[in-house]
Amino acid sequence: MKVLVTYNMFRDGYSELIEKYDVTFPAEGQESFSYEEVLEMIPEYDVLQSMYNFPVTKELLDKGVNLKIVSNYAAGFENIDVDYATQKGIVITNTPDPVTEPTADMAMGLMLSVMRRIADCDRRLRTNELEWGLLDNLGYSLWGKTLGIYGMGRIGQALARRAKAAGMKIIYNNRRPVDPHIESLYDAKYVSFDELLAASDVISLNAPNTPQTHHIINKETISKMKPTATIINTARGPLINEKELADALRSRQIYGAGLDVFEGGHKVSEELLDLDNVVLTPHTGTQTYDVRNEMAAFVSRNIINFFEGGTVCRVN
Ligand code: GLV
Repeated sequence: MKVLVTYNMFRDGYSELIEKYDVTFPAEGQESFSYEEVLEMIPEYDVLQSMYNFPVTKELLDKGVNLKIVSNYAAGFENIDVDYATQKGIVITNTPDPVTEPTADMAMGLMLSVMRRIADCDRRLRTNELEWGLLDNLGYSLWGKTLGIYGMGRIGQALARRAKAAGMKIIYNNRRPVDPHIESLYDAKYVSFDELLAASDVISLNAPNTPQTHHIINKETISKMKPTATIINTARGPLINEKELADALRSRQIYGAGLDVFEGGHKVSEELLDLDNVVLTPHTGTQTYDVRNEMAAFVSRNIINFFEGGTVCRVN
């Protein structure tokens, strides 16, 4: 089998795949194959191993005349035309298991950083712009606050576990309530989206990017939040209308935000860059040495099990 990996990832996690199949990575010194390069190479390959932001389009799927499986290195898969792949009988897989805990860590870290002003103080301390008074640099405690989780899937639940340990109360909104057993683990209460907006001290977005979740945070929904509320987004940028969030942060209509993902992908809205009440990270929710290899091993397992039998994490 011939496997094309689009990104020059650490090889450790791929060792089993490399042993079994003919695997092509970008050459040393090249970060990733471009879309055009993949388009040219794909007719030769049985497997495409794409990254979360690599577009797997109709055009590419048509060119992939030998393609049997696209194994996406991500939990999300909106970079792939799944419907068209399904029509063509091409299997799409993803990697939910290894991304769950690190993404929840990131949401928790952003929450702490915004509410306790860690990044803000660090920045101002270095430039001598910081006062040390007991009433300077005030933030908000997590203990006793209400966390509203939008999207109570695996990452939402992993965040609930952390937040419960930090003494937070958990409410959530989801397409439908989760199993009562899961609710009882976190003392989590299902509420409507409007209740979530009104009652939460922190809202964490943990839902996929779909037409239903697009711009779920916007001028109107922000106006229903507490003036002390914080928004955390480790899911996907388009869940937030970034311009309208920046306006609300600038006018202190809400307290703060922690964002790991952006509407423009790697392009962060200029409006956010000048604000001290937002913490910005470059989509590093899964960016640890450990997780990079775990994700590579997981995509490899999906591919090997697809051909040899065994569990495959399919999305279609
Ligand atoms: C990361 O953003 C992922 O979808 O795994």
